[in-house]
Amino acid sequence: MSDSEGFQFFPSLGTEMNIVTFLGLLTAAKFLARLAWDVVVGLRAHVWSKLWKKDLVKTYGEWAIVTGCTDGIGKAYTFELAKNGMNIILISRTAEKLQSVATEIDKKYGVKTEEVQVDFSLGKEIYSEIERQIEGKEIGILVNNVGVITPHPMSFGEVNDHILWSHVNVNVASPLAMTKIILPQMLQRRKGAIVNLASIAGRCPIPLLQIYSSSKAFVDYFSEALGVEYRSSGLTVQTITPSYVSTNMTSYSEKIYKPSLAVPTASNYAAHALATLGYTNYTTGYWTHGILAWILDNFASRWFLMRYFKLHNEDLLRDMNKNKRE
Ligand SMILES: NC(=O)c1ccc[n+]([C@@H]2O[C@H](COP(=O)([O-])OP(=O)(O)OC[C@H]3O[C@@H](n4cnc5c(N)ncnc54)[C@H](OP(=O)(O)O)[C@@H]3O)[C@@H](O)[C@H]2O)c1
Repeated sequence: MSDSEGFQFFPSLGTEMNIVTFLGLLTAAKFLARLAWDVVVGLRAHVWSKLWKKDLVKTYGEWAIVTGCTDGIGKAYTFELAKNGMNIILISRTAEKLQSVATEIDKKYGVKTEEVQVDFSLGKEIYSEIERQIEGKEIGILVNNVGVITPHPMSFGEVNDHILWSHVNVNVASPLAMTKIILPQMLQRRKGAIVNLASIAGRCPIPLLQIYSSSKAFVDYFSEALGVEYRSSGLTVQTITPSYVSTNMTSYSEKIYKPSLAVPTASNYAAHALATLGYTNYTTGYWTHGILAWILDNFASRWFLMRYFKLHNEDLLRDMNKNKRE
């Protein structure tokens, strides 16, 4: 080959075929490098984190706050945190459920608890009371878990005013307002963790769950931006994006409620998700959900996903209506 002909991968092929081959190899190399990186990140989050558990009290502080802690993922997080020796400030809506969670924690783990009964759907007016009740406590971990969803997939025209404003006040406003309350003391100590429950549904617009998926995209963006802003101040901000977990939220259809490899129970989910704290700042929280998210990120376009999720939600609605009739 003479210098004037330039480098050729396959001298027997023409220049055009050599360019195509070069671009193909470049794309394959990029894909393999990304795959290798994602495998390392996945192993660190879901395997390494279980072998070398962090001392949460030492790393972040004495007390944890969990919003929406009387059921589902929030309740399971609460028990996991207590199991790790953290005192818990329980914030939720129903007084009797708060009391029963506090009693159960006391019996099982003997850590301190404080109960704060508030309805996050009321918006701004509740936060002065929360501030008053947590005064003087060293908050090591804030779990912004509370969240609402429509009772089942529905078109926007069917969404009533209460549901609409609950999505704004509970899903969107509460992580902002809670973070605003806790941030100054974490910054002063230069330590602490804020865990924000977003959702895999926030990664792409979901027809028939339009306000839920938009509100979770908001949490996702807020949480990631916050993490980068305060990384150098010693704070950990973790964004969690689960797929289906078997809780009240998914109870409208057996297809997404019945526990399976893809649909963990809340306690199984929370044990996995909490273990990832300090090992990754962005995770689905559960290994099978991680594989699903990876496939969606790498092989599905937004155009395809939106159409797929519309059909999927229509299928869940049919399943719900069939079970109602039976
Ligand atoms: N389950 C899933 O498949 C899934 C998937 C992705 C993301 N997530 C996210 O994970 C988080 C937890 O979901 P989950 O499935 O565990 O929900 P859940 O089972 O419905 O539990 C919600 C908890 O929040 C409390 N709560 C609801 N509305 C409230 C309000 N207005 N004020 C105060 N507390 C309120 C509930 O209290 P009561 O006991 O009084 O009802 C309950 O303790 C949410 O942010 C959700 O978006 C869930």
